[in-house]
Amino acid sequence: MAKYIVQPYKGKLNSRVKISGCKNAALPIMCAAALSTETSTITEVPDLIDINIMKDILVHLGANIQYDKQTSTMTVAYSGNGSFEAPYDMVDKLRASVLSMGVLLATKGMAKVASPGGCPIGARPIDLHLKGFAAMGAEIQQGHGYVMAMASKGLHGANIYLDFPSVGATENIMLAAVTARGETIIDNAANEPEIVDLATFLSSMGADISGAGTDKIRIQGVKKLHAAEHAIMPDRIETGSFMTLAAAIGGRLEIVNAIPEHVKPISAKLREMGCQVVEEDGCLVVEVEDTSKLKAVDIKTLPHPGFPTDMQAPFTALLCRSHGTGIITETVFENRFLHVQELKRMGANIKIDGRTAYIEGGTPLTGTKVKAMDLRAGMAVILAALFAEGTTEVDDIYHVERGYEDLPGKLRSLGIEIARID
Ligand code: UD1
Repeated sequence: MAKYIVQPYKGKLNSRVKISGCKNAALPIMCAAALSTETSTITEVPDLIDINIMKDILVHLGANIQYDKQTSTMTVAYSGNGSFEAPYDMVDKLRASVLSMGVLLATKGMAKVASPGGCPIGARPIDLHLKGFAAMGAEIQQGHGYVMAMASKGLHGANIYLDFPSVGATENIMLAAVTARGETIIDNAANEPEIVDLATFLSSMGADISGAGTDKIRIQGVKKLHAAEHAIMPDRIETGSFMTLAAAIGGRLEIVNAIPEHVKPISAKLREMGCQVVEEDGCLVVEVEDTSKLKAVDIKTLPHPGFPTDMQAPFTALLCRSHGTGIITETVFENRFLHVQELKRMGANIKIDGRTAYIEGGTPLTGTKVKAMDLRAGMAVILAALFAEGTTEVDDIYHVERGYEDLPGKLRSLGIEIARID
């Protein structure tokens, strides 16, 4: 199993880093491209484990995909053939593979997708996805570990109210609705920037969508989609992770290819802690004079435009460094504190009460063997390692590599000592 060996960072940052294309936007956009038999070109596709798994799934379902990792360019078209089943071994590796359901219903009128099951960070059901498909005329059956959806006469438009603004359910329903008969309205839709990126791409393929980025999305079904070109938006969680890193080790970091609007809740919390966050010459600049003056803050994760749950773990690590007690309440997932046990192994003083973590800042951390418990939990222990005393060994780094493109390379370019050992 590969691992990272991370050394504490000595000195002050004075560097720049370029943000990659956004994983969580690229995954649904790859699915969208597989709705047309014409070849779409997607650029800024990050080379990540999750992207490669989604590619394999879509190829299995009948897409022709070429991926040039050197240029981060992918071409995608639906061949008209392929399986209508996303089997367990594929779905199990990637939760977002449930988006194949929307693609299959739109292209083949039937889908058999392995039930994604639970996940360490929470139960993560797909009931909202299924309610949406059922409202659009799909007959849903579940059993033997699979979900079957049949729409022998094709899908029709529907009024769908989501009990929670689920990102995945909104995307899945959008994928199914763009070629359904009539109008679909999604109320209480997710309004994350990734939804807007998906809508932009689908619109350039000929889809008729309005309201993406608000809580009401209207989709008028069209007969056919055509090829389009699209550059994936920059990854706001990678941006936020590097912003947090700069705050944790101090100095100045220029972040290239970041969209400040997308990271507003992160900038606000960092400013509250005493960091400078400014836009300069098209870069987002984070500057911290003295990390010993960082102040603790209270954070509550919420759907966009609230504080993103994906940034909760890196901020837990950062709050180990600040003055006072930081409080983090996780409202999106029921069990997203997996990083806490690992930070505690490094000496962190954190107490959890239900969905709230109380972090006593200023407790010195020491390097040891820890695990990347999930993607963002992995980033949390790497950040902590940078201000801990001694070497930290991070195991299970495949989680990190699911979502951060060339992380060791980018960290080394900042002067951070990190080795990847196979
Ligand atoms: C996406 C992101 C993930 C991010 C999350 C929330 C991708 C690939 N992943 O995940 O990084 O942390 O949004 O911003 O884009 N829920 C239900 N029923 C459903 C669907 C969801 O109860 O049918 C619940 C989930 O269990 C969870 C909450 O809704 O508690 C949010 O989930 P959702 O927004 O769907 O997240 P994902 O799309 O899975």
